Amino acid sequence: LKALTIPDLAEMKANDKKIVALTAYDASFARILDEAGVDLVLVGDSLGMVVQGQPTTLPVTLSDMVYHTRCAARGVRRAILAVDMPFASYSGPAQAIDSAARLIRAGAHMVKLEGGQKRAETVRALVEQSIPVCGHLGLLPQSVHQVGGYLVQGKDEKAAQAILQDAIVLQEAGASLLVLECVPATLAAEITAALDIPTIGIGAGPDCSGQILVLYDMLGITPGKRPRFSRNFLQGVEDIPSAIRAYVEDVRAGRFPTSEHSF
Ligand code: KIV
Ligand code: NA
Repeated sequence: LKALTIPDLAEMKANDKKIVALTAYDASFARILDEAGVDLVLVGDSLGMVVQGQPTTLPVTLSDMVYHTRCAARGVRRAILAVDMPFASYSGPAQAIDSAARLIRAGAHMVKLEGGQKRAETVRALVEQSIPVCGHLGLLPQSVHQVGGYLVQGKDEKAAQAILQDAIVLQEAGASLLVLECVPATLAAEITAALDIPTIGIGAGPDCSGQILVLYDMLGITPGKRPRFSRNFLQGVEDIPSAIRAYVEDVRAGRFPTSEHSF
């Protein structure tokens, strides 16, 4: 079994092979995902909501992320393990390097942070330390109070162009991957075509280089209403590994997402 590397992700985009990603927060789920062929496991700060039961991701601490990274890392053999930098753990290059180093020591292969232009210097500093970076644009859950809710982003032309520019800046700063969350499918397609680095969509239509969902959403165990862009993959199958395999196959074959999961 050959472990995937970050350069393999760029090659997948170049070869039109979809990158399959899901979140996991512990060793058992990480192992199930890894064995089902998920290419990238994200220890998302969504754990603040789905594991801790908080109303937002903002209360999640770096220590929380380190703990869950250690757990998930023990389950991963082939997949890339990406980990979210939590709220206020990357307010500048020096703090970001300290925070990322703790996550890397815990087993992360790559760190993810929210924001574009304003993170350029921080991304450059991390990459300078040989820490691979995944950007995150569109709906930014760590900015929920400033934005005023969990809203689709980039709907008018001016906002769309701003997100495209942020994506280009992140790539130029050295990011090797970019998550696009809740943006119109047409904008995600335009960004994916404009960039060399792969994009991973969530609520961003079918034309990204790969897809990600929050594990608990796609298993139907997140309390409350399922987000429009998700699907319950446990429906109609008999166990969790089968649900994960169905997701892997559907993303690889371009059967998920469809327009019904897009904006
Ligand atoms: O925290 C998370 O799970 C994420 C993904 C939804 C991209 O950031
Ligand atoms: Na996140």
